[in-house]
Amino acid sequence: MAQLWGGRFTKATDKKVFAFNASLRFDQRLFPQDIQGSLAHAAMLAKQGILTEEEKEKICKGLESIREDVFAGKLSIDMAQEDVHSFVEAVLIDRIGEAGKKLHTGRSRNDQVALDMRLYTRERVEEIYDLLKELLETLLHTMEENLDTYMPGFTHLQKAQPVTLAHHYGAYFEMFRRDREQLTDIYHRMNLCPLGAGALAGTTYPLDREYVARLLHFDGVTRNSMDSVADRDYLIEFLAALSVIMMHLSRFSEEIILWNSNEYQFVELDDAYSTGSSIMPQKKNPDIAELVRGKTGRVYGALMSLLTTMKGLPLAYNKDMQEDKEVAFDAMDTVADCLNLFDGMLRTMKFRKERMADSARNGFTNATDAADYLVGKGVPFRDAHGIIGRLVLYCIEKNTSIEALSLEELKGICDKFEEDVYEAVSLKTCVEKRLTAGAPGRKAQEEAIRQGREYLAGSEVLGRKECAP
Ligand code: ARG
Repeated sequence: MAQLWGGRFTKATDKKVFAFNASLRFDQRLFPQDIQGSLAHAAMLAKQGILTEEEKEKICKGLESIREDVFAGKLSIDMAQEDVHSFVEAVLIDRIGEAGKKLHTGRSRNDQVALDMRLYTRERVEEIYDLLKELLETLLHTMEENLDTYMPGFTHLQKAQPVTLAHHYGAYFEMFRRDREQLTDIYHRMNLCPLGAGALAGTTYPLDREYVARLLHFDGVTRNSMDSVADRDYLIEFLAALSVIMMHLSRFSEEIILWNSNEYQFVELDDAYSTGSSIMPQKKNPDIAELVRGKTGRVYGALMSLLTTMKGLPLAYNKDMQEDKEVAFDAMDTVADCLNLFDGMLRTMKFRKERMADSARNGFTNATDAADYLVGKGVPFRDAHGIIGRLVLYCIEKNTSIEALSLEELKGICDKFEEDVYEAVSLKTCVEKRLTAGAPGRKAQEEAIRQGREYLAGSEVLGRKECAP
């Protein structure tokens, strides 16, 4: 098939040049959006009297037939064309003749690709937003069931103070909630229609850009025609948000890998979500968590790639921008897969609650509480800190724990200890007395769960899930 822009040329494009320049191999993914955008454009051209009703009817029927045939597998996307826009237009002209040649009136591939990419990205933002909601539901459900599941909390990967599983999951709930809120923000900023910007300087036809924007469910139109075709900020913002989501998934994965290790044994991964070793029969590996952690790199890579591509580009459209697609598509697919798989892994994972509580009991996670106990008996905190430090040393030498010492032994170190110390440094007390907002105590976590539920019930629904015309 001939190229759309052949008129000015006397020689055919070199084969290698054509292949290097072409984007159809990857931008065919924008096929549904390209049809959708063209249908809206044609409807607007007719409304403005630029096309006759009859021409519009022909064009729209033609576009719909192309869509149906491609979806049904009756028409294959022909790699002889340069990009998806050229493919659709060439088939349209082939099918309906003269009227097909009028579709591109008042439009450039620059604003066309800007529109297609925005429509596509908008759908993926909605998808990731919905997947995050599912993950948040999973987290909240586990939180509700584990308000009293004690476990050690760590700093420097050293046991620090006891927390609960609800509290630990609650930290991830906050991360993914922020990610989701970030997407809402990006969605609203990007939801403006660039079509009508033309190549860069608008057009002399009396286009009704607002009408196209309404048909495609945008909140309005972009404000500057040069920026409209040169802008990929929304994509960069989305890739940045996806990178943060991956960073959170990766941290969570790392914890699950640790919890699943022989040393911790806090969790048992479901057989359906783990894999074996070809040589070591005893192994059950956390491959899903490792892969999610590993795939973080390629999503960061996509962000770096696009930032670098856009850096130094003069206004307005430059062909460099064609490089936005492969990396962005890969990042979106990767994050959608990771969220799906990760959620499934969490839903099927079992907790070994006794091991977790035992682990919290050992390792002096109640040392701060023991010091606070002495403070309650009138010892200044700094002195109490020193006394408990010596007590811990004594326990390490005797290979025992604070609560296992007799009252005589305790009094031997500080005469302020009384019988009530055992209650004060018990695991239950250590957790339940922590009731500041956001702390692991039951009341504080019940409130966190209430707020989480309220957020999920009240959060906005993004998108309409179906698109006109
Ligand atoms: N394939 C191109 C892209 O992805 C479409 C826009 C082409 N515009 C142009 N002036 N060559 O960016």
